[in-house]
Amino acid sequence: MCGIVGYIGERKAVPILINGLLSLEYRGYDSAGIAVLNNNSSNENNYQLEIVKDKGRVNNLKNNDKIKDLIGNVGIAHTRWATHGIPSKENSHPHIDNTGKFAVVHNGIIENYTSLRRKLINNGYKLYSETDTEVIPNLINMYYSGDILKAVSDTMKELKGSYAIEVISEFCPDKIIIAKKDSPLVIGTSEKGNYIASDIPAILTYTNKFYFLDDEEISVVQKDSVEFYDINLSQIHKSIKTIELDSQSSEKNGYEDFMLKEIYEQPNAVRETIGSRLSLSEKTNLNIDYIDFKKFNRIFIVACGTAMHAGMAAKPIFEKFCKIPTEVDVASEFRYRNPLIDEHTFCIFISQSGETADTIAAVKLAKSFSATTLSIVNVIGSSITRFSDYTIYTHAGPEIAVASTKAYTCQVTLLGILAIYMAEFLGYDDKNLQSFKLALLKLPDKLKEVLDTSKTLKKYAKKIFNQHDLYFIGRGSDYAVCMEGSLKLKEISYIHSEAYASGELKHGPIALIEKDTTIIGVITDSLTSKKTISNLEEAISRGAKVLLITNQNIDNDKIDFTVSIPPIHTLLSPIISIVPLQFFAYYIAKFKNLDVDKPRNLAKSVTVE
Ligand code: AGP
Ligand code: GLU
Repeated sequence: MCGIVGYIGERKAVPILINGLLSLEYRGYDSAGIAVLNNNSSNENNYQLEIVKDKGRVNNLKNNDKIKDLIGNVGIAHTRWATHGIPSKENSHPHIDNTGKFAVVHNGIIENYTSLRRKLINNGYKLYSETDTEVIPNLINMYYSGDILKAVSDTMKELKGSYAIEVISEFCPDKIIIAKKDSPLVIGTSEKGNYIASDIPAILTYTNKFYFLDDEEISVVQKDSVEFYDINLSQIHKSIKTIELDSQSSEKNGYEDFMLKEIYEQPNAVRETIGSRLSLSEKTNLNIDYIDFKKFNRIFIVACGTAMHAGMAAKPIFEKFCKIPTEVDVASEFRYRNPLIDEHTFCIFISQSGETADTIAAVKLAKSFSATTLSIVNVIGSSITRFSDYTIYTHAGPEIAVASTKAYTCQVTLLGILAIYMAEFLGYDDKNLQSFKLALLKLPDKLKEVLDTSKTLKKYAKKIFNQHDLYFIGRGSDYAVCMEGSLKLKEISYIHSEAYASGELKHGPIALIEKDTTIIGVITDSLTSKKTISNLEEAISRGAKVLLITNQNIDNDKIDFTVSIPPIHTLLSPIISIVPLQFFAYYIAKFKNLDVDKPRNLAKSVTVE
């Protein structure tokens, strides 16, 4: 994944680069590094490439004594999420070529790096890291004969896979050369210089004027100019886009962790997401008036991780109210399985960050088959919004913790609103839809109520935080919530857990149940509640201990612990019943003394395949 930043201008580069990296740390925090062109001598043409990098987080780099020596006004920087090679100083970026003249930071994966390494070695080059990236500065060196732009474009022609790169060199100290394919890169421009970053918020404090680089394009960024070229070096004209966004400060506001703060922000985030889109007296308003929903015979909801779970929770809403068969797919599968889509397919993509590589690729695929594409995104102006026909935003506000909480509840809420909008369009505006609408409007208050489960969950977490395996079971919408609850637990507590549709337990996984195995049951649907209770009893008979999350009246003295949650329309229950599971994962991680906001091996935004 990785975040990259660059600066060229009148100001000292390092503070800008460090600030940018801190805001991009959601993309990875395995190592961080900076390369600056320093001019310590009286000869104004005598620039030296200086690099400081190390394993660990950006703050580690910030506190590195050597950083003080980087005084130049031109620099590039990187925070890494390792794809090739362990997180180590040697593998961290920037990487340099064998002569030490070219420095490169890279976000992406060079898929043909093995053959490129071989080629370089055959040409006398030595490679010192385990990364795929290190081939890039060396290829640039190999192709360089006085024209850096040509050397970068020749290098790009050799690369397969994805990349956003920044290149600086002692040979051209007045330039940063950048290029991209399938990884994001934006350029912010101002009178004080030009800024480069993986996303807009990283440089939004300096400017609101941006250029967006497209795939297989190169840009030469100088102090007071930005030029664009295609891969064959024909010049391209691009216009500046002004982004009306506040650079939102993300503080913990007294909470111990961002995750806890974000759990507590849910009532408000959902209220903001509903905003003025929904009311009982008027038609739903989503600013997507140009879509003719009558032409669709199929809906695909495509996303990754938690966003995919939001899709799973919403599938029955679309089927019930819009009466269109709805399929939910993981983006990384969808993009390679030749899905049956055409102009009669409505494809909904969900992404908090709007930068997830698999989801972006899925949008492109759906468009290539003439489907209508609509994305549900949290980060304004992010890449997916530029590829989709339509975008509607969740208004969750910045989500900093790697484990998604408020983005999920807002995604399900917005999917619910979209389903209502479509049902109204299709003429299915009946009593059932009205009561669903009413329930949706009550969500912020219900969310406030369910936050009261915090203490109970903390108590239960204390009891079981040392366990190694946990199981979640539920049916229908409750199964979707179990999937999400299990993911939360894995992500931040490193406890192995699995989620099963209740009825499936007896088809295999029950073999894993032994004395004192904990099972978390979620029951919010009166239609199937007795069935899930029977499945829980089957597990209890084999020694399991049960934590039950329910809004039903369940009288069963074999259940170890019951957490009551407020009643809500069954199809909206995933927005309420997830909250105790978020607390559960959070407190278990706290009792285990883990870094809740930045769990190991993960990154907030997954921009590689
Ligand atoms: C959520 O807790 C995870 N960190 C992860 O599954 C995430 O939801 C997934 O990577 C998708 O991200 P996106 O919503 O930014 O596309
Ligand atoms: N593949 C590069 C590395 O492992 C960049 C990683 C990325 O962008 O995720 O260092």
